[in-house]
Amino acid sequence: MPAIAILGGQWGDEGKGKVVDYLAERAQAVARFGGGSNAGHTVINEKGEFRMHLVPSGVFYPHVTCIIGNGVVLAPKVLLEEIDLLGGRGVDTSRLFVSDRAHVVMPYHILLDGLEEEARGAKAIGTTRRGIGPCYVDKAARLGIRAGDLLDRETFRKRLAIALEQKNSLLTRVYGHEPLSADAVFNEYAAYGERLRPFIRDTGLLLEAALERGEWVVLEGAQGALLDVDFGTYPYVTSSSPTIGGAFTGLGVSPRRLEHVLGVFKAYSTRVGEGPMTTEMDKQMGDRVREKGGEYGATTGRPRRCGWFDGVAARYASRLNGFTGIVVTRLDVLDELPSLKVCVAYKVGNETLEHFPASLPLLERCQPVYEELPGWQTPSRGIRRFEDLPARARAYIKRIEELASCPVALVSVGPQREETILPRPLF
Ligand code: IMP
Repeated sequence: MPAIAILGGQWGDEGKGKVVDYLAERAQAVARFGGGSNAGHTVINEKGEFRMHLVPSGVFYPHVTCIIGNGVVLAPKVLLEEIDLLGGRGVDTSRLFVSDRAHVVMPYHILLDGLEEEARGAKAIGTTRRGIGPCYVDKAARLGIRAGDLLDRETFRKRLAIALEQKNSLLTRVYGHEPLSADAVFNEYAAYGERLRPFIRDTGLLLEAALERGEWVVLEGAQGALLDVDFGTYPYVTSSSPTIGGAFTGLGVSPRRLEHVLGVFKAYSTRVGEGPMTTEMDKQMGDRVREKGGEYGATTGRPRRCGWFDGVAARYASRLNGFTGIVVTRLDVLDELPSLKVCVAYKVGNETLEHFPASLPLLERCQPVYEELPGWQTPSRGIRRFEDLPARARAYIKRIEELASCPVALVSVGPQREETILPRPLF
C-alpha cells in the first residue's frame, strides 16, 4: 500500500491529529515530517485525552510504527516528557523512532527565539518561542546538531563548541545576555541523547522497508499551508515547509510512493500569532466562535483569532498540495449560527483577486468578498451519516468543496474518534 499525506490547509490547528488518529487504525506507520514542539495536537480516545507536541498521533495503536522524521526539529526534553507521560498512562512507545538526521533544538535556539521576538517589538511574528526558527536557521547555516550527533560524545562536543562560539558572541554582544556554559549544555544534552538512544535510527530505511512490504504509511503534517516558509503569509510564517514538498524532504520518501493527499480545513478559520487574516471576524462573532470552539493555542494557550472560511486561501492550499480530498473539521462549532459567510474572492480597490497574493502589503489591503449562506441551527454532533446532516449544512460543505476545487473526504463533528462522517468511501 502507498503513502497518504495529511496536511493542514490553513494556519495550523485544523484538527490533523484527530484525522491521523482516525486513519492510523488501518496504517502500519505514521511519520511526522516537519515542525517541532511549536505544534500541538490533541487526541481523545478510550485511554483519555492526550495533548502532544512531537509524538505522532498514531502512537495509540500497538500495530503502528511512529516516526519523527529528519525534517522535524527535535526538543529532546519535550519528547522525553511525552514518552514518560504516555508510558505512565499505559501507552506503548517501543515502536517510536526518531531520525538520526533530525536537528536538535538547543537551549540557545529557545533563548534566541525569545530575544529576537522582543527585538522585533511591534513587528513581532508571535512565534511559539520554542526555538523553531533559530534551529532551522542553523540547519541551513550548517551549524546544527543532529539527533545522531548526541550519541557520539566526541562529535557532539566538537559540534557544540563550533555552535557556541557563534551563539555566545551573539548572546553577549548583541543581546547583552549571559553566555551559555558549554559543559552544562553538553552534560544536559548528552544525557538526553543516552535516554533517546533506543529510539534514534535511520528512519528513512524503516519507511522504505514498510512501503516495500506494501504497508500503508501516513505522512503526518504539522502547521498548515499558510504558515509555509515559501508559500505562507511571509514573514508571518513558521520556518519549515508544511506543504507537500516538506513531506518528501522531511522523511526521505519518494513522491512516487504517494497516493492520497488529504487537506484538513476547519469549517471556519483560525490563526495564532501575528500576520494578515483577510476573513477575520469582528470581535463579537470572533469571541462567540472562540468560546464555542475552545479556540486557544494547544502549545501557548493564546486565544486564536477566528475568521470565516476563506475560499481563496483554500483554493491556493489545494493547488499547492494537489489535494485529492479535503477534510472539514469542527462543523459542529457553527451549529448555532443563523448565517455563515464564506469568502469567494479578494478585492483591492476596484480590482478583484482570485489568487492568493505573495506580497504582504497587497494581502494586507485585501478585502474579502463574501457570500452569505443560511445556518442550519441544529446540533450536528450526534450525526454519523452525511445524508442525515441538515440540508443547509450539506449545502455549506458543498460550497467549501467548490471553493477548494476538491471533494470532501471526511467531516468531523466533534473531537471523539467516532464523531466522524464519511460522505463517500474514503479510497
Ligand atoms: P514558530 O513556528 O514558533 O516560529 O511561530 C511562527 C508562527 O507560526 C507563529 O504565528 C505561530 O503562532 C505559528 N505556529 C507555529 N506552529 C503552529 C501550530 O502548530 N499551530 C498554529 N500556529 C502555529
